[in-house]
Amino acid sequence: MTTDHIEVEQDGGVLEITFARPEKKNALSNAMYRAVTAALDAAEKDPDIRVVLFAARGDDFTAGNDLADFADIAAGKSADLAASAFIEALGRASKPIVAAVSGLAVGIGTTMLLHCDLVFMADGARLLTPFANLALVPEAASSLLLPDRIGHVRAFAMFALGEPMSAAEAFSCGLANKLLPREEVLPAARQAARTLAARPPGSITATKTLMRDKERIASRMAEEGAAFAERLQTSEAREAFQAFFERRKPDSTQGGRS
Ligand code: COA
Repeated sequence: MTTDHIEVEQDGGVLEITFARPEKKNALSNAMYRAVTAALDAAEKDPDIRVVLFAARGDDFTAGNDLADFADIAAGKSADLAASAFIEALGRASKPIVAAVSGLAVGIGTTMLLHCDLVFMADGARLLTPFANLALVPEAASSLLLPDRIGHVRAFAMFALGEPMSAAEAFSCGLANKLLPREEVLPAARQAARTLAARPPGSITATKTLMRDKERIASRMAEEGAAFAERLQTSEAREAFQAFFERRKPDSTQGGRS
């Protein structure tokens, strides 16, 4: 099954979901989120699928949410925030998720990794969560999960200052299992996914369930979702999105205190 910019392939017990919009650095549009969410929901229900694998075409993993979709919400032209359903699906996923992070991972590209169980990363990859650059707030329970993994000050610097994290740092913080040359990332992730799919599924699901506090994650996602939706309506956010498409720095005096 393949829709525009999202490829979904099943290989044995592994469902591989590929971000395939390399000309836009795999930025995720609402349509792409809907296709990915449908694939995750189908994987949850299908006993033949034991593992989900996320991969990407081109040099980047994903540049995060399509900022044109955010700009439409900020301008009052749309109320469609399909990222929310994807985030919720990640939060409730009971089957293991493997990620092949081939390069740059921005916003949800990084925060989704906090819901993955095995992460293979290109040695030149970078993780970025520039929420304050866009006048937004963290999502996908990352305000809870990222500080848990890397400590408050490092997480705050990523969220508030937009500080990037290198692949080497991601590995040393336990955000990646293995760093590899880019061309070896997907084969290694596929191999690991196949190995996982051959393990006793009940045991794997029970292990994942024990390792994640789903209620706490869902409750933080709801809190963040409300703040995020509110931030999207601010003049600060409108200015940030406009600045991105005009290829200039946002004027933070434009937004006042909203
Ligand atoms: N949404 C929509 N389009 C995006 C995008 C995004 N998140 N990220 C990149 N693109 C588009 C660019 O507009 C450009 O399109 P064009 O060729 O039609 O002009 C194309 O992808 C290539 O991006 P470009 O900015 O030219 O590449 P770069 O190498 O100079 O910079 C990034 C790459 C990822 C650092 C930069 O594109 C960026 O900061 N993107 C926004 C990331 C972001 O803030 N995501 C949301 C987080 S919540």
